Amino acid sequence: MADKQISLKINGSGHSVLVRPGLTLMKFLREDLDLTGTKCGCGAGDCGACKVLVNGQAVTTCNLPLSRLDGADIVTVEGLAESALDGGALHPVQQAFIDAGAVQCGFCTPGMVITTVDLLSRHSRPSVWEIRKAFENNLCRCTGYAKIIDAVKIASGQMTPPEKSDGVGGFSPVTRVSSKVTGRLKYTADMKFSGALKGKILYAPAPHGIVTKIDTEKARALPGVVDVVTFEDIPDRTFNSHITVPYQDVRKNDRIFNSHFRYRGDRIAAVAAVDEATARKALKLIDVEYEALPFLRTPEESLQEGAPPIHEEGNAPAEISDSSGTLPDSREDWFVYEDTFRTGRVTHAAMEPHAVTALYEEEVLTVYSSCQNVFCYQAMLAELFELPFNRVRVIKPPVGGAFGGKSEMVLEPVAALLALRTGRPVAMEMTRKEVFSSTRTRTPVKIEHRICVGADGLFREHDYQAVMDRGAYFGSGFDLGYAFMDKAYRLYRVPRIATEVKLAYTNNQPPGAMRGYGNPQLSFAREVLIDRICRDRGWDPVEFRLANLIQPGDKNPSTGDDLGAAHPAECLKAGAEKFRWDERKRLCHEHNSIPGQTLLRGIGAVSGVHGAGIYPGCVDYSTASVKLFPDGSAVLTISAHENGQGSSILMKKILSSCLDIPEDKISLAETDTLMTFYDNGSYASRETWVCGQAVLKAGETMKRLLLEEGARMFGCAAADVEFCDGSVRFKYAEGKSASLTELVRHAQTSYPFRDMAVIESVPCPFDPGAYFSNFAEVEVNRETGEVRVLDFLAVHNSGTPINPVMLEGQVEGGLHMGLGFALSEELDVDPETGDVKNGNFRKYGFFRASEMPETDVLFLDNPEEPGPYGAKSIGEATTGGVAPAVINAISHATGVDFSTLPVRAEDVLAGLSASNNK
Ligand code: FES
Ligand code: FES
Repeated sequence: MADKQISLKINGSGHSVLVRPGLTLMKFLREDLDLTGTKCGCGAGDCGACKVLVNGQAVTTCNLPLSRLDGADIVTVEGLAESALDGGALHPVQQAFIDAGAVQCGFCTPGMVITTVDLLSRHSRPSVWEIRKAFENNLCRCTGYAKIIDAVKIASGQMTPPEKSDGVGGFSPVTRVSSKVTGRLKYTADMKFSGALKGKILYAPAPHGIVTKIDTEKARALPGVVDVVTFEDIPDRTFNSHITVPYQDVRKNDRIFNSHFRYRGDRIAAVAAVDEATARKALKLIDVEYEALPFLRTPEESLQEGAPPIHEEGNAPAEISDSSGTLPDSREDWFVYEDTFRTGRVTHAAMEPHAVTALYEEEVLTVYSSCQNVFCYQAMLAELFELPFNRVRVIKPPVGGAFGGKSEMVLEPVAALLALRTGRPVAMEMTRKEVFSSTRTRTPVKIEHRICVGADGLFREHDYQAVMDRGAYFGSGFDLGYAFMDKAYRLYRVPRIATEVKLAYTNNQPPGAMRGYGNPQLSFAREVLIDRICRDRGWDPVEFRLANLIQPGDKNPSTGDDLGAAHPAECLKAGAEKFRWDERKRLCHEHNSIPGQTLLRGIGAVSGVHGAGIYPGCVDYSTASVKLFPDGSAVLTISAHENGQGSSILMKKILSSCLDIPEDKISLAETDTLMTFYDNGSYASRETWVCGQAVLKAGETMKRLLLEEGARMFGCAAADVEFCDGSVRFKYAEGKSASLTELVRHAQTSYPFRDMAVIESVPCPFDPGAYFSNFAEVEVNRETGEVRVLDFLAVHNSGTPINPVMLEGQVEGGLHMGLGFALSEELDVDPETGDVKNGNFRKYGFFRASEMPETDVLFLDNPEEPGPYGAKSIGEATTGGVAPAVINAISHATGVDFSTLPVRAEDVLAGLSASNNK
């Protein structure tokens, strides 16, 4: 096909373009015009992140040939706002997204904004249903769509935005929000480096085997190819893609490239070329011969006697256990309930695919990585390439969602290797298919769970025997196992609890951290079994839980540790009241009793708990510094990893409250191993609890410094001055005070001169529980098996809500992930080839806006000391209870028990038919 000349208008400017064959509008915008607000979330027309207006209509651009657009008038998200020179006014829809708190990571936002502009051009006041339908092809993993729908209502004059205010307790949108809604923010794949090469990876040809011959000659000969590297070219050094602290003693059995490949997404070789098309072509020219080994698909297969070992150590790398209490001698009036529960392999599906750029300049390896823990990546890369830490710099640019999926190195070692070998910047970005098949997943678990209760309605024993599919490499196996077991000891008063976890290697993707980290699996087994007990014994599930939940002051029976301000009973009571539990129960019963009823109704409730940090499992601390400028503004240096969850604005709010500085006068220096201080990273729901404490401590220390300076200014003792309304005043004389500006200027100009700057580290003293209850109402079509979640209530005891609107956004996003885990999401792996068959957003059961239920969120304001202003954690607690609440509601509606997730329509039908045949 020949090049074609076309003319078109983009954001008001005319362009005449000679279109090369195969060029899409997305590529043209992003690569030729640097209009990177048009995002690539899938490259297949499935996610909507790449939408622009073509002749006023929102269309996806990743699958739209540019050659078709002769004469078109195109507006991208950048074209909606005025340029800074013209005043920079935002489009009303962009402003509404900010005002609603509809922006978290912001990666989906350009596409959402474009769709909204299109919708409102056709319907000035769309109904909620019309809004949901308009977003049918726009996916968001962060928000659960709730605040996005609010944004459309605000933009169409149907809703008043929540009020914004600085400091603790007020609403502030995420940092860099204007750049997110205008598409001007540069994520890793949007950054351009002069002379950069594109790197691509050759993945394993089969799920399990050994490469017997690899020939790269033809690939190397291809014009434009700069380097080809395989397992033959690297030192025989192993690593573990996950550590929680530098120098952690972990089992290392992964390599940058593996000649003995152990899953379909394993790395065999890589290419660096002048562009992506050339790199892809070169991959196809690498000849690989291999000897196939048996594909061990499940722990059952790999743990079988005689199964070939996936690693030298065998297929059962570890077994861990814990217990508390003893079984009473008398077992009269005991009832034993048990079952085997299974959870599926699901993926994080952050809208931004994994991306990295590495460069080696002036003897420093610099890695820009869309990741969750720069200091651990620095330590792993330093060890892998035998470089001192000061010559490895890891920087986290804005991240388009992570949810645990970006806490393990997958691309970074390859990009770093290619950069070190070529001396040129190497940029790598995964396709969506690669993300689905070669990054981490949630851990599939089989749990044999037994609960014993007495006739008095109190627990006697909980026993969990779990087998975790560890996939191909050890990775975070221990952490996951311990995190899973930990949640068994934190919620109910149980005389005897026993937990055991066996890890089993298989030829599957290695799982890793994912929002909830073991909790959704354990909660599913326990909370579903509890409801079965209640159905069987005729007990009310809320009353039964209330009788068994821990109370404030209780200790962890396994460790003896404090469980924190433990208010799970308060969560459940408040939830039952708000949800109108008793009334709905009666209404469901009446509804389902109507003869011939097709649409059955049911409700479910659960209790739950998550932690806040990784202490005492691992060292946990954070460091923050504050520096004041002579005009009274400040820079706060932190390593909290902002991935869209709002941790950066939260840190600003803490400092703003502490020092009475307006948030817009606080700048942030963030997450760069060279420039900022140590933090473990954003996982384990630790950012607010741990980093927040460091920020508050730095703020308090700065306050003391300001008091000292005030005393110096007034020539009095420090005890004679006080901090009030952002200034220091002499206690005993009216009107004698100094503003921050005056204090800083005084410090810098009065001998001995000094900067007003402090740095503080805070160790995490303990890991309190963040408690919650979840309530769901569902409608089940008994003829099709289809389940609709109608209504969902989440009640959280996360300490003081520092930024309530964004906190709600966390809950709504966690609900989205939990619903997928419960009802629709699971990687479908071909049993022969190991390919992920549904590795795209069309087939992977990602909840769309039209499928989300009405959602209500309630926060109990129980402060937790020493959290910053009493705040603790929220991110992961949002997902743990969703699946069991929904499954309990389905069982309530149908009377059918479910033990395997996800529960799809066909499972409901099969369950109904089995129960009818009983
Ligand atoms: Fe175009 Fe996903 S990138 S629809
Ligand atoms: Fe929608 Fe992150 S805000 S994907």
